[in-house]
This record gives sequence, C-alpha cells and structure tokens, in this order.
Amino acid sequence: MNFLNSTDSYMAMSHIIYDIPELYMSLYYNGGSGNDYKRQALELSRVFRMCDVEDVLDVGCGPGLHAGELVRMGYRVDMLDRSGKMLEVARKNNPDGRTILCDIVDYRPQRTYSAVISLFLVMSYMTDTRHIIRAFRNIHDSIRPGGVFVFDVVNALPLLRDFQKVIYMRIPGGVNLWERRVDVKRSLLHARGVFVVNGREYTDDHTFRFYTPSEIVLFMEMAGFRVLRIGDDVGFRTSECNGPRLFILARKD
Ligand SMILES: C[S@@+](CC[C@H](N)C(=O)[O-])C[C@H]1O[C@@H](n2cnc3c(N)ncnc32)[C@H](O)[C@@H]1O
Repeated sequence: MNFLNSTDSYMAMSHIIYDIPELYMSLYYNGGSGNDYKRQALELSRVFRMCDVEDVLDVGCGPGLHAGELVRMGYRVDMLDRSGKMLEVARKNNPDGRTILCDIVDYRPQRTYSAVISLFLVMSYMTDTRHIIRAFRNIHDSIRPGGVFVFDVVNALPLLRDFQKVIYMRIPGGVNLWERRVDVKRSLLHARGVFVVNGREYTDDHTFRFYTPSEIVLFMEMAGFRVLRIGDDVGFRTSECNGPRLFILARKD
C-alpha cells in the first residue's frame, strides 16, 4: 500500500504506540510534544474549581497520566479507552478509577460526571463526520447539566500556514521522524511516524482531522454544548489560537 495515497478510515489504522504503553510513556510522560501532565492537571484543576467539578471521565485516557495527577489532587476519575493495553497501565496509575474498554463512538453512558476531559488529540482521531457527531453526543450524554468538557484537536490554521512535510525529533533513547500529507478536501492530516528507540524501529500510521475554531464551535453546538473558551493551552489564560493544538472548554447547560 502506498501510504501517502491511502484514504483508510481511522478504524483501520494500526497504532503501535498505543499497544506499547511503555513506548508511549517514554515518549510523552516527561514533556514530549508539549505534554507536561503535572502542569496540565494543575491548569485543569484551576478550570474545574471555577465550574465546581468533583468527578471526571477521561476519554481516550491512554496510560492514565492526567487521571493519576487529578486523583492526587482529590478528584474521582474514571477512564475510557479503546486500547486494552493502555487501560492496563491506566489502572496502575489510578487503581480506584473505573476503566471502560470502548470506542467513544459506540459508548452508551452508564453514569454521568461533572466533567469529561479528552486530551492530546483524541477527538482528532475521528475522521468521519458521523463518528465525530456521535462521539460528541455520547460525551454530552455523559455530563450532568452544568458540567464541562475540555479537549483539544489539531488546529487547522497553523498546520496549513506553516506546513512541514517531514518532522524530525530527538526522543528519549532515539529519534522520531514523521512524514506528513494533508488532504484539504476532507480536513485530514495523514502522518507516518518512524520511531527508533534503543535500537528498535517502529512504524505507525496516524490520521487526524483538523479544525478551525468556528468549525469546532459548530460541532459542539450540534451536540448540545455551549463553547465557553477556545485557546492554545488547557489553562485558557489567553484566547490566542496560533498553536498546533486548539483547546476547547464547553459546557452542557
Ligand atoms: C494520543 S493518546 C492520548 C492519551 C491521553 N489522553 C494522554 O493525554 O496521554 C490517544 C489515546 O486515545 C485513544 N483513542 C483514540 N481514539 C479513540 C476512540 N475513538 N475511542 C476511545 N479511545 C480512543 C487511543 O487508544 C490512545 O490511548
């Protein structure tokens, strides 16, 4: 298969880094790709205090790194992911949290929360518009009235303005190279990542849907949310939207 011409849906994509949680943790736990989980959890707790949040569902929790930090701050956190391997590690980071092995597109909520979080581009993995709307509605159904949803997606404007076909990064124990292609008509970014870590090589294909701020507001409103803030960072301290990720704070009225 010629990857750069492929139009595979996200369902068919293999995601090696989510089946090898140790690799994921070594890549991202200590700040890789701008992920400082402790700082992000502190920023989330500041937002949560303004919205009276007590319990949280982390959708696409991965190894439960945000969940672990939030639990240490006193929040109750349940965790949902479609990767069983990720949930095994998430359980260790948050032993008291309920784990739900499920695709958010198919999730039927068993209980409701005062907040749902979905961080590090989980919502960008849905590429089909029907799946995106279903996922946002399922999340809406998981939140009590007055509760909030905090998430991020790939930001269209900087991606297209400063497009780089190849990205090369040093990572703990090796290097990571991404070869990327944009499908403008479908708002998709196809990225093939090659990771060389401690002498082993892994190849992984990811497809992300990218959004403009007004587009994501429209999707949120279609699912019944009201968008309170959009910005470059999960702290929402400014409303700048120039970063690679768009963070959204939405409320269920
Ligand atoms: C980039 S990781 C983010 C993990 C975590 N939120 C973090 O910040 O470290 C994406 C995670 O979302 C999960 N995921 C992607 N699409 C999903 C879907 N449709 N339903 C449930 N989980 C999904 C993957 O299995 C993976 O664990």
